[in-house]
Amino acid sequence: MQPSDAPLRPVTFHPDIPAIGFIAQTKLPSACTIEYASDVNRLAQAIRTLDIRGAPALGVAGAYGVALAALTSTSTEMNAFIADVTHAAELLISTRPTAVNLSYGINRVLTRVNHERNSSAATAVAISEAEAVADEDTSTCHAIGEHGLKILPRKCRILTHCNAGALACREWGTALGVIRSAVQAGYEVQVYACETRPLLQGARLTAWELSRDGIDVTVITDSMAASLMRKGMIDLVIVGADRITCDAVFNKIGTYMHAVCAKAHNLPFYVAAPLSTFDEEAEEADIIVEQRAREEVACFGGTKTIPDTVKVYNPAFDATPLSLVTGIITEYGILRLPEELTRIGQIRKEQQEQNQ
Ligand code: MRU
Repeated sequence: MQPSDAPLRPVTFHPDIPAIGFIAQTKLPSACTIEYASDVNRLAQAIRTLDIRGAPALGVAGAYGVALAALTSTSTEMNAFIADVTHAAELLISTRPTAVNLSYGINRVLTRVNHERNSSAATAVAISEAEAVADEDTSTCHAIGEHGLKILPRKCRILTHCNAGALACREWGTALGVIRSAVQAGYEVQVYACETRPLLQGARLTAWELSRDGIDVTVITDSMAASLMRKGMIDLVIVGADRITCDAVFNKIGTYMHAVCAKAHNLPFYVAAPLSTFDEEAEEADIIVEQRAREEVACFGGTKTIPDTVKVYNPAFDATPLSLVTGIITEYGILRLPEELTRIGQIRKEQQEQNQ
């Protein structure tokens, strides 16, 4: 397959229409279809169904959503305008509770809107702040990729889970961003993508976007990972994250299992995530793990796989204790755990001081 030139962008903003364009990820890999949300209800639906998904991409979509709400509000009186935009922000935040990037992107734009005196100034600020959130995600992913080179052997076999790639971000990716940067720098990388039951983000999305870029990728079922590690077929694990608390990394269900297996086989287990994924004041017990529909587990390829009378448990994410994480690859460098987690507080303080 030919490497593609244009960056793969899952979410784009078109203020002139106005609408948010998105790759309908539920249709991948059979079709790469661009759809448009011209109101916030349609955007919320695309997020709930996982046409738009992945923590940083949710942050970008949320930021664009608030800007779209500002652009489409029919209220010119400021209090009514703020009420419209706030209502849209609340609706979007309610779509998926676990990925903290969603509320991060939404709140950044909402805060700027609230500081303006009239609706047209607030709309202009909403658009520029949403684009800033998106642009920062791009530079952040590239910085994560560059820092990631420090922990990779020149020749390596990497296991990843779910999709922490361009499709989960504005472009490039976090875990897959490290892989892209390594391939670009001439590293010889072989990727094992776990299929990621029940919705197959690894098989459908990670495999699609890596093979599109000509990167060596092999799909395995989730249950094969331990065996590959035991056979010496994996050198390290890199995954993304939806939220990082002071004691755990929340990521796609199945991640914890890989961390336990990596520990048992003395393999490094890295998380690649931007600062916007950290919620370091919170603890694991504070976080709501999204429970998803029975059908996602009870059907496969349109065929019923579980008797109607049997219960299904379907949490979308799990928590991996930080004690199992070798390090977190951020845009500010690599945090070795647990001793360096406190550096996040310091980085945030420095950022706030810079913004004042
Ligand atoms: O339910 P999803 O597909 O939104 O879950 C996505 C993940 O768990 C990703 O690994 C995570 O968001 C990291 S994205 C860079």
